[in-house]
Amino acid sequence: MAKILVVGGAGYIGSHTTHRLLLRGHDCIVADNLSKGYRHNAEGSRLRVVGLHDTSALESLMMAEKFDAVLHFAASIAVGESTQVPQDYFTNNVAGSLSLLNAMIASHVKKIVFSSTAAVYGTPATSPITEDMPFSPESPYGETKVMVEKVLRWYDQCIGLRSVCLRYFNACGAEPKAGLGEEHVPETHLIPLVLRAATGGKPVTVFGTDYPTPDGSCIRDYVHVMDLAEAHALALDYLLDGGPTRQFNCGTGHGYSVLDVIGAVEKATGNKVPYSIGARRDGDPSELVADSTRLRGELGWKPVRSELADIVKDAWEFEPIRLARA
Ligand code: UFG
Repeated sequence: MAKILVVGGAGYIGSHTTHRLLLRGHDCIVADNLSKGYRHNAEGSRLRVVGLHDTSALESLMMAEKFDAVLHFAASIAVGESTQVPQDYFTNNVAGSLSLLNAMIASHVKKIVFSSTAAVYGTPATSPITEDMPFSPESPYGETKVMVEKVLRWYDQCIGLRSVCLRYFNACGAEPKAGLGEEHVPETHLIPLVLRAATGGKPVTVFGTDYPTPDGSCIRDYVHVMDLAEAHALALDYLLDGGPTRQFNCGTGHGYSVLDVIGAVEKATGNKVPYSIGARRDGDPSELVADSTRLRGELGWKPVRSELADIVKDAWEFEPIRLARA
């Protein structure tokens, strides 16, 4: 059992991971400023309402609690928004992470699992994407994650702060039995938007059907948030066991198109999904699929819930819970 600080643990991926760590017997404290996260997501762990920029509060917490490691989920996450307000992204994601790392250094906490993203690669030259492909972000959001990954490499080299960067592909799904799921406001992600369209919500716009893919719509690697939570638990064990700084892609290796997702939602709900074909969205590569050989081989990760039908089923089961809270 380890004592873990989960920063951003009241958000979507952070809450699923905290739930998984608690089941494994770890002692978790969640630090979250609740700007995007929810108090109900932190039930079962101690919640401290504190923001990333409050270095001294974080340092006091770390001094008092003597954590074995930090998991850092707190970030602004919308690629499109990052092109409109890049200053918010560099401030929250880069300056915020530096503040957290300063608190860690001052309190001698030397292990961190960091939430990175497939957006660090931009449009890949080949698919699937391996971890040694170059950084080529196409948005401020992706750039912020590259910057923090680079800082983490230097901190390892210079001061021995070890890290695992998990580069998520498309996180989705829910754990309805635990009352956890996707509750972004506003929601911009495909699967929740398609589910809402299937049940009388706004029709979906498919962002382009002229891509060089079999049906013309974009292909993404959708990975269930419960499988992502497991990847964090494994990454934590790896660091606690003395593993060196490392980066891992978190995706299944299978891609689905936007139209595949619409088909899967129609099947799960029994409803037609109203949609129209729109223009391409800026910054959308046609295909993003992970080569997850490293994560599988080195950490023993195996996705068990990331079939598209399972993802959609769980997200669908979470809908009434989300609606009851909205
Ligand atoms: N899409 C539509 N219509 C919509 C919403 C999305 O056609 O209304 C399409 C997008 O063009 C894309 C796919 O559905 O092809 C998935 O889009 P999402 O907005 O759900 O997710 P993104 O792929 O844009 O981004 C997600 C995360 C990022 C992360 C990225 C890495 O939100 O934080 O995956 O792959 F960087």
